[in-house]
Amino acid sequence: MNPIEGFRLVRQKGFRLVFANFRERILFDAFNGIDTITQVSKDQFTSRPANLGHGLHYSSSWTSEIRFGFGAALKYLGSSFEDYTFIDIGCGKAKVQIAWEQLLRKRGLIQNVLGIDYYDALLGDANSNYQKVLGKDGHFIHADASEVDYPAISTKLIAYLYNPFDGVILARLSEALRPCSVVLIYNNPEHADVLLRSDFQIVTEKPGFHPQGTTIVYARASNKTI
Ligand SMILES: C[S@@+](CC[C@H](N)C(=O)[O-])C[C@H]1O[C@@H](n2cnc3c(N)ncnc32)[C@H](O)[C@@H]1O
Repeated sequence: MNPIEGFRLVRQKGFRLVFANFRERILFDAFNGIDTITQVSKDQFTSRPANLGHGLHYSSSWTSEIRFGFGAALKYLGSSFEDYTFIDIGCGKAKVQIAWEQLLRKRGLIQNVLGIDYYDALLGDANSNYQKVLGKDGHFIHADASEVDYPAISTKLIAYLYNPFDGVILARLSEALRPCSVVLIYNNPEHADVLLRSDFQIVTEKPGFHPQGTTIVYARASNKTI
């Protein structure tokens, strides 16, 4: 590729990203009257969770990735979809839970919807966003994702991850989820190799022009039913 072609490609990708940001983030907030788009870097955290070094900063998922994950989980689970509890692991300001609840309501479906984050200040924003849009308190757990007793929540889980942490925590999470039947939606799947090594099978995937627009959906049966 010559330098002029290279420059054109960068410019084209840059425009695509600006447009994607508008369509995938700004519109959601504008439509719902909330702020999930403002990023929170780890330097801005006023408390220091133990695994902060393994975690990523806060930024919100693209709306179409949440919709893709919802559609894929619904198709895969069929009539047992409502038996599963949905958890956004590393939920930040609750965009994913809000969008998921809206998708459930649109289809007349009922499901338990939870969020987990290790940074408590984000959970304050999460609940006020949730209240504002859905008119009720959301269910949020303040904990490290690798230390939650998942089977005590439910043995049937749909877990959503927007690349919240590195492979070390993902591997621990994967072990913590072993007793559960899991559909796992992994957006920006930077450490996908960890899941494949721990027996998750790919259900479907959606490649994108940008890592934020790339999602892989996995499933793994509970080790209690094998
Ligand atoms: C990229 S943001 C994703 C936010 C949200 N899921 C979304 O898609 O809009 C990652 C989030 O994971 C949280 N996080 C990172 N490591 C964590 C851990 N070990 N346990 C719980 N939350 C964690 C961060 O605080 C941050 O809010």
